[in-house]
Amino acid sequence: MKIGSLVLENPLILAPMAGITELPFRRLAREAGCALVVTEMVSANGLVHGSKKTAELLMSHPKERPLSAQIFGADPEIMKEGAQIVQGAGADILDVNLGCSVRKIVRQGAGVALMREPNRLEAVLKAIRSAISLPLTIKIRTGWDPSGEQAVKAAQMAEDCGVDAVAIHPRTAVQGFAGSADWSLIARLKEAVSIPVVGNGDIQGPDDVLRMQRETGCDAVMIGRASIGNPWIFAQALDLMNSRPPRQPDLLDRLNTVLRYIEYSVHHFGEVRAVRMMRSRLGWFTKGLPHSSRFRASISHLQTKEDMTEAVQAYFEGMQNAIQPTAI
Ligand SMILES: Cc1cc2nc3c(=O)[nH]c(=O)nc-3n(C[C@H](O)[C@H](O)[C@H](O)COP(=O)(O)O)c2cc1C
Repeated sequence: MKIGSLVLENPLILAPMAGITELPFRRLAREAGCALVVTEMVSANGLVHGSKKTAELLMSHPKERPLSAQIFGADPEIMKEGAQIVQGAGADILDVNLGCSVRKIVRQGAGVALMREPNRLEAVLKAIRSAISLPLTIKIRTGWDPSGEQAVKAAQMAEDCGVDAVAIHPRTAVQGFAGSADWSLIARLKEAVSIPVVGNGDIQGPDDVLRMQRETGCDAVMIGRASIGNPWIFAQALDLMNSRPPRQPDLLDRLNTVLRYIEYSVHHFGEVRAVRMMRSRLGWFTKGLPHSSRFRASISHLQTKEDMTEAVQAYFEGMQNAIQPTAI
């Protein structure tokens, strides 16, 4: 799988998710085997106006590369300048968000709003393409009606503008996350354009990855919600692609992953902020495990990395001892 000049080692991509796919989370996904990670959506306007908080979203770590940075906005000139800032920051791919249906974004004419304004969309893509040499991708939705026509037209126009790949989450703007993703539209895009098509939407387990590839012919599969607290989905999908039974993470895998998540988060956000974030996020990794709600409550007041690490170790040791009386 190639996006422009960039060769991906496999066809698995972590979906951009605002508030979730921060750098530490992306590192776990890469370690689990996905070939490409994407930042949370980044405001082009914020970048151009020098917002420190926005620029922070572009921070990267060598171990997570290749990294795609996603921007949103509606003004061609601002999007162009935003793209140049992204290129200067060292991202490997520039992705344009044409799928976000959150009211705040749509009201600005950005995200999926651009899918019903083909002239503006064309101006945005041409402006960006003329200004950067990075591989350029777009991430779209079905559009504003269920026919899929807007998606096909947007993808074809993007190809004409020099876009190198298109990812599609085949739900309409009004659908949000309701109903189910219409994978037949992924197959339709595959017929309609010759650039790579990335399929996205409703991958719940590793088998779905193979099913999406088989049913749609997509070039790569992008996984979002199913990877939250479950980076192993990437390794398991790779197992299946290589005709191996998918390996289930054991307690030690889970413990080590959580400890690395804490480590990376403290390194990236600093101890105070990271520990505060971990209080809720560790719940993603312990959901469904015995006494997980008790564990979550027990870490809700912790202040230091040391205390957080100890609490995690004690929780996992308790579980291991319940299975067999040896320490992990
Ligand atoms: C919490 C959350 C945040 C998201 N943020 C973004 C975003 O910043 N940019 C984007 O293009 N899509 C965003 N998405 C959409 C996902 O990238 C993806 O298209 C969608 O979740 C469908 O894939 P899934 O069924 O594998 O989760 C977000 C989704 C979720 C659940």
